[in-house]
Amino acid sequence: MEKLLIEGGHPLRGTVKISGAKNAVLPVIAATLLGQDRPSLLEEVPHLEDVTTISEIVRSIGAKTEYNAEKETLTVDATNLTATEAPSELVRKMRASFLLMGPLLSRYGHAKISLPGGCAIGTRPIDLHLKGFEALGAKIEIGHGFIKVEAPNGLEGNRIYLDFPSVGATENILMAASTARGQTILENPAEEPEIVDLANFLNVMGANIRGAGTNPIKINGVEKLRGQEYMIIPDRIEAGTYMLAAAMTKGDVFIENAISEHLKPVIAKLKEAGAVLYEDVNGIRVSSDKPLKAVDIKTLPYPGFPTDMQAQFMAMLSVSEGNGSIIETVFENRFMHVEELRRMGAKITVDDRRAEVIGIPELKAARVKATDLRAGAAMVLAGLVANGETTVTALHHIDRGYDRLVEKLIGLGAHIKRVEE
Ligand code: UD1
Repeated sequence: MEKLLIEGGHPLRGTVKISGAKNAVLPVIAATLLGQDRPSLLEEVPHLEDVTTISEIVRSIGAKTEYNAEKETLTVDATNLTATEAPSELVRKMRASFLLMGPLLSRYGHAKISLPGGCAIGTRPIDLHLKGFEALGAKIEIGHGFIKVEAPNGLEGNRIYLDFPSVGATENILMAASTARGQTILENPAEEPEIVDLANFLNVMGANIRGAGTNPIKINGVEKLRGQEYMIIPDRIEAGTYMLAAAMTKGDVFIENAISEHLKPVIAKLKEAGAVLYEDVNGIRVSSDKPLKAVDIKTLPYPGFPTDMQAQFMAMLSVSEGNGSIIETVFENRFMHVEELRRMGAKITVDDRRAEVIGIPELKAARVKATDLRAGAAMVLAGLVANGETTVTALHHIDRGYDRLVEKLIGLGAHIKRVEE
């Protein structure tokens, strides 16, 4: 088992390049399964465990994949698939594997998948995905540890209203409806930039989707989609994490590739906390030379404050001046990092979905664990400003979603290393 050792107190300086977005590349890889006639070539594909896992899953059903780590390209040849059922040991590793259902249902009229695993944050049901498939004419069978969807006569476009703008459900419905007969109107969809990225890829493949990123989305079904070339958008959560690292360490960092349009709530809250931000076409420069002030945060679906930045902001509030509150409305039970931050001396109380953070001048180094992906990032941020040497364990969570984190932080002057236990 490996762990991170972080010596706190070193300001980060320089330029860090943001990689392709995890949450965009996963649905796009699922969508490559719709690519007939020719392979798809994806660019800006980050080096992530989740990408390795979803690649294994698509290979297990007959697709051929080839990742060029140096060029950050991934080729997926889905012209000849051999199965519509993904093996449970792979699916359980990653909740996003449920995204294979939409494309498989669309292309073959049936798909079977194990009940998904992934981060243990809340119950994360998939009822909205299934309701969407049903509205398109599919029959659902929920068995012991599996879900089967079937539409022997093909899918039929329909008007679908999502009770909550679920990211995954919106993506699955976009993929399934792309080749359904007639028009689908998806009301109250998720509006995240990753939804727009998926819709853009599907449209390049030949789909007819209008209004992604707004409400509603209109999908006019087409006969078939072809493999294509496509470049993934930069990861706004990775960018947001480095923005916080720069501000918290009283550093000065240019976050290359960060798209300000995707980061409005993060930018607004960092400015409110007193950090200095300069937004450029090629990225965002973040600096700070004084203690940050506490802010209040409420997570919401896009364009609201992202739940995937909640844990990192809690690390920041732990060492900000004054008291701040965090309300988590997207996931239940997404406060597992509280206990870990408390080990470092943070003063946090939790009441249901609300956390109150009393800022203290300094955290003290401790042995903490990454309880999930973004909680892991929060522990790294806390370690960068703590007094002493912090140990972060359970790195497999961080590896799922942060491309070469240690190398990138060392490039900015952080004192961090990855060692065997
Ligand atoms: C995606 C992101 C994840 C991010 C989340 C919210 C990927 C691979 N992951 O996850 O990083 O934290 O969006 O921005 O893109 N829900 C239901 N029924 C459903 C589906 C969801 O009740 O059928 C609920 C969930 O329990 C959760 C909320 O809706 O409370 C948000 O889930 P959703 O938007 O679907 O997130 P994911 O797509 O799983």
